[in-house]
Amino acid sequence: MIMIRFDILTVFPEMFTSPFQVSLLKKAQERGLIEIGVHNIRDHALDRHRMTDDAPYGGGCGMVMKVEPIDRALSSVRRINERSVVVLLTPQGECFSQLVAEELAAYSQIILICGHYEGVDERVRQHLSDREISIGDYVLTGGELSAMVVVDAVGRLIPGVLGNSESTLSESFSMGLLEYPQYTRPSEYRGWKVPDVLISGHHREIDRWRRRESLRRTLIRRPDLLKDADLSAEDKMILQTLTEEY
Ligand code: ADE
Repeated sequence: MIMIRFDILTVFPEMFTSPFQVSLLKKAQERGLIEIGVHNIRDHALDRHRMTDDAPYGGGCGMVMKVEPIDRALSSVRRINERSVVVLLTPQGECFSQLVAEELAAYSQIILICGHYEGVDERVRQHLSDREISIGDYVLTGGELSAMVVVDAVGRLIPGVLGNSESTLSESFSMGLLEYPQYTRPSEYRGWKVPDVLISGHHREIDRWRRRESLRRTLIRRPDLLKDADLSAEDKMILQTLTEEY
């Protein structure tokens, strides 16, 4: 059963050929868990030159994406019986996060509009989109890479897309803490050793070490995450000693 259908509206559909043809998203499509449709906005431009952009009213440099081709493209992909959400990718949007990815994963159709040029006609924001999302405080040449990021982050939340169903539970951000350090064989390489506790086989000790390292890493790298993290009394004590240590 298809869990989520993504429809991407873009003027550069060729950008999407390889990213979705590899790895987990490829498998997810093959197994029918997700569907991804990429649609060229230009196919919905009706004028002789099939223009998707035009000069801004009021003057100024650059071009603005036109509203009609986007509206027509939207009408052609929107599925009436689905729980759909229309997302405009733009640096002016709310910042994308694990929480936003989880919210989007509740829909059955996600339509992503990739903005371009100097901007998108304001009526697309006002009347056609439900949400505006930015993937970070930097400006890309267009919304295509951002759409890929959203499809990837939401797609992997669909049950069955990841091999191990626990792997979305214990990872960075969904628990509110950064992940603990991971090691694999060999236990020593060029004198660089794996911490003894991980080789000890004492599972309780290993769990405690991992929790402590998660807390340490979050405290050092992303202390802002701690205020929303789910912390036990013991976690708070550990944080206290770590804070004194640094
Ligand atoms: N388009 C251009 N820059 C972007 C960004 N940072 N996030 C989303 N869409 C964009």
